[in-house]
Amino acid sequence: PLPEPFRVPLPVPPVARPVGTDPGGAELYRITQRVAEQEILPGLRTPVLGYDGIFPGPTIESRRGRPVVVTHRNELSVPTVVHLHGGHTPAEHDGWPLDLVLPVDGAHDGSGHHGMIGDSVVGERDYRYPNEQRAATLWYHDHRMDFTAPAVYRGLAGFHIVRDDVEDALPLPRGDRELPLMICDRSFTADGAFAYPGVDQSMRSLPGVDPEWMEGVLGDVVLVNGAPWPVHEVDAARYRLRLLNAANARRFQLVLTLPNGENLPMQQIGSDGGLLAAPVEHRSLLVAPGERFDIVVDFSLVPVGTDVTVVNALGTGSTSQVMRFRVVRPARDDSRVPDVLSEIEPLVPAAGATVRTFEFRRGAVSGHSGWTINGESFDPDRSLADIPLGQVERWRFHTDVHHPVHVHLDQFQVLRRGPGGPVDTDSGWKDTVDLPPYEVVEVAVRFTDHTGRYVMHCHNLEHEDMAMMATIRTV
Ligand code: C2O
Ligand code: CU
Repeated sequence: PLPEPFRVPLPVPPVARPVGTDPGGAELYRITQRVAEQEILPGLRTPVLGYDGIFPGPTIESRRGRPVVVTHRNELSVPTVVHLHGGHTPAEHDGWPLDLVLPVDGAHDGSGHHGMIGDSVVGERDYRYPNEQRAATLWYHDHRMDFTAPAVYRGLAGFHIVRDDVEDALPLPRGDRELPLMICDRSFTADGAFAYPGVDQSMRSLPGVDPEWMEGVLGDVVLVNGAPWPVHEVDAARYRLRLLNAANARRFQLVLTLPNGENLPMQQIGSDGGLLAAPVEHRSLLVAPGERFDIVVDFSLVPVGTDVTVVNALGTGSTSQVMRFRVVRPARDDSRVPDVLSEIEPLVPAAGATVRTFEFRRGAVSGHSGWTINGESFDPDRSLADIPLGQVERWRFHTDVHHPVHVHLDQFQVLRRGPGGPVDTDSGWKDTVDLPPYEVVEVAVRFTDHTGRYVMHCHNLEHEDMAMMATIRTV
């Protein structure tokens, strides 16, 4: 039986503490990837693959312009790769899917990757993040070729928040009134283990899921920061919620529902790439896997004692609820949402700008039904696009079924969706954009600073593991 919703308090992942500073001023962190047991469902122990043994992993808080080096140590029995999603990261630190961190104890030599091993190391790897980017909610997660989905499902995901002075100067809610919320769905076995329908439970050599999950793996338990349908007591005041959809395949349509059936407005202040130019009000918010929405909710609009339930309008049964806020006390609140949040440089493709088309479709992958981009499955050695730095290009994404498309290295801007302009959830700098069936989405992209080999892919993690990923190169 599933646990009762709204009983478990909302956990907030601990903020990682730097272990030192290098001579160049970079802050140093150490994270150990290991298996640990965590009580997720009341009374049961769930083995998690955790950054520092916890799910979600520790939150890294960094400042724009101050580099961070994270040394990841792999004490698991399988190789790993760490990617900072949304990071403006040099290629060698971006988590190329074959740049493996092999287990420290030699338990796995990386074989099983089609003989293709990138720049792999045993035991530990330093990932250097320059943080030369706007303040934003980023997240880090596993990105090993063919095995991203089971690794993230079992716990390898955490927040990385970049802050800057521009944002600090705004009167937004902060401190206890700023919460990162990692939302995902999972299924569990009767004894509390994550039930991932992979064909190879050891995640050692055989990729893939049971054919019935080829569209993407869905669970029946909704977790927020690793707790099932949690409850959080709040002041009657504004809160800043940094929403992240970390589900493998589920899209959530979030509505803040009151007991009388009405709902509370959400002021969106930021998206994947940080603050918007101006706030956008939503009554419901569609969040696809990989996307972040930064919202402010004013709990003083309802009487003390009110339960505000976060509902998933796309869910059924147990997945139609997400969590609950309980407004427990009146409070003083000096925060507000300014009309102007930040400056966003519009990306305007020039008249003769390069146009590239990427088709995300079902297709044959080595004779089996799989997922492709432009008819091809992921080939690390073949670039689908060589993109000169500094040019604004027009990219068109075509699709068959739903695919949340994610591009590494730089955020982009949505220019067009279907026959019309962008919709209100497309505002700001995006790095992941939801493609509804048969809709063409056009974005303006511009890569800067770093040349090298990166990927773009579907962030439905089962699709990604089934090779819906492409190599792109910045030159
Ligand atoms: Cu969040 Cu390439 O991934
Ligand atoms: Cu997809």
